[in-house]
Amino acid sequence: MISQTITILLLTLAGLSAGSVLFWTIRLGIGPTPTSGKVRNRIRSCLPEEVSGAIIELGCGWGQLIPLLQEKYPEQRIQAWERSPLPALFTHWFCGIEVKRRDFFEADVKEAGLIICYLFPGAMARIEKEIIPRLPAGCWILTHTFSLPGRVPVKTMKADDLYRTPVYLYQIN
Ligand SMILES: C[S@@+](CC[C@H](N)C(=O)[O-])C[C@H]1O[C@@H](n2cnc3c(N)ncnc32)[C@H](O)[C@@H]1O
Repeated sequence: MISQTITILLLTLAGLSAGSVLFWTIRLGIGPTPTSGKVRNRIRSCLPEEVSGAIIELGCGWGQLIPLLQEKYPEQRIQAWERSPLPALFTHWFCGIEVKRRDFFEADVKEAGLIICYLFPGAMARIEKEIIPRLPAGCWILTHTFSLPGRVPVKTMKADDLYRTPVYLYQIN
């Protein structure tokens, strides 16, 4: 009887979790797909040496990029934004950082030193229009797979994976 109750509880929990992730994936137009290990390796070699200002991840998902940022910038404040509750909680618990569970288009980016994200073309176009104009001069933007439509990167590198995934680094003038 107890084991049946536990099974039902676990199944309900799994169903609710999957439902929540699915709901936010449909709502946002993208799921919490993690950046692969090979792309993370390429990102590691592209990260700027000097970053002055906050490090902000737009849509951190399950936090795959956070350890890499913590390793490279141990002294810097890292702030992540994630709308999907489960990935946001997961990242907060496992990476020990502040995760804002809100729309990242509301982020205060005027003191950002590095923006990092992995999104989709529609979101990149919106970032170009709504976030880039609010960034301070010198701020870095690192993204992969999809570029910012109206900007020329200072550096583009390919990951050593099947798709030769591009990693783009931009800097605000
Ligand atoms: C493809 S995942 C990338 C996850 C992580 N950055 C990585 O590279 O492993 C994109 C994430 O952005 C989140 N997201 C998309 N639009 C958002 C928005 N407007 N505000 C907050 N989070 C958003 C999604 O929920 C998803 O978890």
